[in-house]
Amino acid sequence: ETVHAHQQAGNLWTSRLAFIMAAAGSAVGLGNIWKFPYITGENGGGAFVLVYLACIFLIGVPVLIAEIMLGRRGGQSPIATMRTLTQTEGTAKGWRIIGWNGVVASFLVLSFYAVIGGWALVYIGKAAVGMFVGADAEAIGGQFNNLLANPWELLLWHSVFMAIVVFIVARGIRSGLEKAVGILMPMLFLLLIVMVIYAMNSGSFGRAVEFMFSPDFSRLTTEGVLIALGHAAFTLSIGIGVLMAYGSYLPKNINIARTAMTIAVLDTGVALLAGLAIFPLVFANGLEPGAGPGLIFVTLPLAFGQMSGGIIFGTLFFALLLVAAITSAISMLEPVVEWLEEHKGASRIKSALGGGIAVWFIGIGTVLSFNVWGEVYPLGFMGFFEGKTVFDLLDFLVSNVLMPLGGMAIALFAGWAVTRDGLAEDIGLQGGAFNAFMLILKFVTPAGIATVFLYNLL
Ligand code: PHE
Ligand code: NA
Repeated sequence: ETVHAHQQAGNLWTSRLAFIMAAAGSAVGLGNIWKFPYITGENGGGAFVLVYLACIFLIGVPVLIAEIMLGRRGGQSPIATMRTLTQTEGTAKGWRIIGWNGVVASFLVLSFYAVIGGWALVYIGKAAVGMFVGADAEAIGGQFNNLLANPWELLLWHSVFMAIVVFIVARGIRSGLEKAVGILMPMLFLLLIVMVIYAMNSGSFGRAVEFMFSPDFSRLTTEGVLIALGHAAFTLSIGIGVLMAYGSYLPKNINIARTAMTIAVLDTGVALLAGLAIFPLVFANGLEPGAGPGLIFVTLPLAFGQMSGGIIFGTLFFALLLVAAITSAISMLEPVVEWLEEHKGASRIKSALGGGIAVWFIGIGTVLSFNVWGEVYPLGFMGFFEGKTVFDLLDFLVSNVLMPLGGMAIALFAGWAVTRDGLAEDIGLQGGAFNAFMLILKFVTPAGIATVFLYNLL
């Protein structure tokens, strides 16, 4: 038996439910409610959703299972876990890049995630003071554009968001937050259902269902397939070391396969509900499905401004969105903080503060890309990156490159390099189910990712 630092310290999740809460807290976030609808709109709807769902279950879930399993076997931070596993499994040292990729990617992803988290903060205030009441699409679009146009306001709320995240991580008061997730996430789910019911009466529900679920492959590009794959990784928080870190606290007796499936179903459910709440409003109000990152910040306020109880529902909704964003953000800071603690010997408070300040600083690039640098396209000279701002590039690099490639490396390592002894029990699958899973993990998952990449390169 290898030394499981956390596990020996008795520092384990108290139950399967507690782990699900933390992992689901990481998974369910802005990715589901902010990003999924707008990229679905930008990529033409149904066909994109279909490819996304295939990526979730053929690529996402196997990697999710493998990453949690590796984390539990290693029992440490991603970098130390990969170091230990390459030793105990006697494999090439090159696999350690999985751990490093996680630290770099989670650092970069948080830098732009925090800026969008700041938007959620702003919208709690706007909803609470009744700024949406009776406003039309143009007025509400104007409010959003004014926010983006103001770098100082964005910077202020981005800073507040980062301060909250750093405070929680530094104080190690995560467990309290994770208990709260058990109440707040079901509330978010219910509120989304309320919004879907409201959207059903908007007159455009049928059109929205058709847009989301009737695939028209002529509207899907090869880049769209890469974005669907990247979003499957982004939304499940895989390939980035986060679930490896969380898995290191997981007790032996918990069935990883079942847990991973639960997380994936919850996460997918939230994303689909968000789409069903938003697209009817998009069509009913003559808005553009491909309008981009502002989609939910324009459509939902319109609904809150018209429905009865809209001030309460709106305030509650953005507050819950903020909680969902925070539970994801703290999971992103974790690999960075663990790395600073382990490799730089810094205290937890200093690591959280140092890591947080560095992330915050990089985040300024995203803040500026919505205004002052709105026309700055750093890699624009390369055809593929034409018209991509700093924010677009960071999102692309992390979601569509680092996370899927990290996921592919995890699938290959778990599928080919890790000893099969005890693996079935470790994962929680038996007989035929285990064999089928291993075939998918060894062949389907890596080949799927490789194909998408090759098509986009050519
Ligand atoms: N899964 C989160 C979301 O959907 C985002 C995330 C990405 C969290 C990477 C952790 C790591 O919002
Ligand atoms: Na998600």
